[in-house]
Amino acid sequence: MSMLSHPIHDFHYKQTDLYCEGVRISSIVKKVGTPLYIYSHNTLVEHYLKIVEAFKAVDPIICFAMKANSNLAVLKALVNNGAGFDIVSGGELQKARMVKADMSRVVYASVGKTDQEIMDAIKAGILLFNVESQPELKNIDRIAGKMKKNVQVALRINPDIDSPTHDKINTGSLKKKFGIDLATARSIFLNQKSYKRLHINGIHIHIGSQITKGEPFVTAIKKTLSFIDALEASGVKVEYFDIGGGLGIFYKDENPQTAHEYASKVLPLIKGRKFRLIMEPGRFIVGNAGVFVTKKLYTKDNGVKKFMIVDAGMNDLVRPSMYDAYHEIIPLKASAAKKITCDVVGPICESGDVFAHDRDVADIQDGEYLALLSTGAYGYAMSSNYNVRGRSAEVMVKGNKWAVVQDREVFKDLIRGSHIPEFVT
Ligand SMILES: Cc1ncc(COP(=O)(O)O)c(C=O)c1O
Repeated sequence: MSMLSHPIHDFHYKQTDLYCEGVRISSIVKKVGTPLYIYSHNTLVEHYLKIVEAFKAVDPIICFAMKANSNLAVLKALVNNGAGFDIVSGGELQKARMVKADMSRVVYASVGKTDQEIMDAIKAGILLFNVESQPELKNIDRIAGKMKKNVQVALRINPDIDSPTHDKINTGSLKKKFGIDLATARSIFLNQKSYKRLHINGIHIHIGSQITKGEPFVTAIKKTLSFIDALEASGVKVEYFDIGGGLGIFYKDENPQTAHEYASKVLPLIKGRKFRLIMEPGRFIVGNAGVFVTKKLYTKDNGVKKFMIVDAGMNDLVRPSMYDAYHEIIPLKASAAKKITCDVVGPICESGDVFAHDRDVADIQDGEYLALLSTGAYGYAMSSNYNVRGRSAEVMVKGNKWAVVQDREVFKDLIRGSHIPEFVT
């Protein structure tokens, strides 16, 4: 199955041309060039609303995990529909403020928050810190004391669960750096009086990403609920349970659970509980809402293998190199052109700069375009300037309208702040 035949998406062929909502993608490419990320406003919002709808019985606080895509237009579109944010840095906090997020819907995780980041988040009045270690807890208490503020805290516990996903996005086991083990977390809750400025009243878990089935979530939530039960039996009041993100999406041949299937597994587990549910979906909301367009430069055949060389590299989209991720690759102009079996590669000086291995792709002419699908999450957000390449532009489409929502970086952007000192000249 192709992503194009997936239930919610706004990318489709009209005759031979690939469209995003009502706009022919090649007409955007003509003006903006490549490499280029294109987001569908409708697909983005629809995915967010799917979660709202599926969980409406408990009215959770839905905190979009900004790390998946922090484009300001994406963030604003979600805020307009009531989303909060899961942030992990001072930069993300600033972006949340720029789009006028409701700070009572912002939670802050990360295993290494700096003093400045903690101060700024306290000043901003976020809902709570998701705290990942005891030293961090002490530090937040110290800073809150200096600022004469009281601060709400959830402990990110590590439920020690191995999720069936790529090792690099598996976060719920004690072999990983995330969260606090259960015994330590329990002793913190029971001794919370020693943290003068903290109100420790939440539990947070996030077991990993691109998890397509409900079972790992159910296992982690059940384990956490038993932990909460034991705490409550000892007199601790848990007011927030943040179940993190991690919902998987369609890339190739997955059959990921829908928001409703996910809700039908989670809601019965938390029925009758007094805590407020918090969720942190990232990929689920934005992953299928984006495509990445690149231009074919030429094909090279070394007698053993064919390589289709494109103008985008692993600096623009690192997921295939970093996680062996699969992205469907289709031409902007569907033609009767035959397919060619090749590696689709970028210009970066790394053997790992490969978007697809031994893939059958449309044998398009040099100068024509390909779209890599399901690239809205962890695409632009993870891009870099490796090989002194400016990051690509981003465009958002809504109906028949479109706009550049992030300019392409030019050389001037790349050397801003660089200096050659006198002793080197
Ligand atoms: C704490 C936390 N919450 C939420 C997410 C979002 O995960 P996903 O994009 O898989 O929903 C992540 C991703 O790494 C995370 O670390």
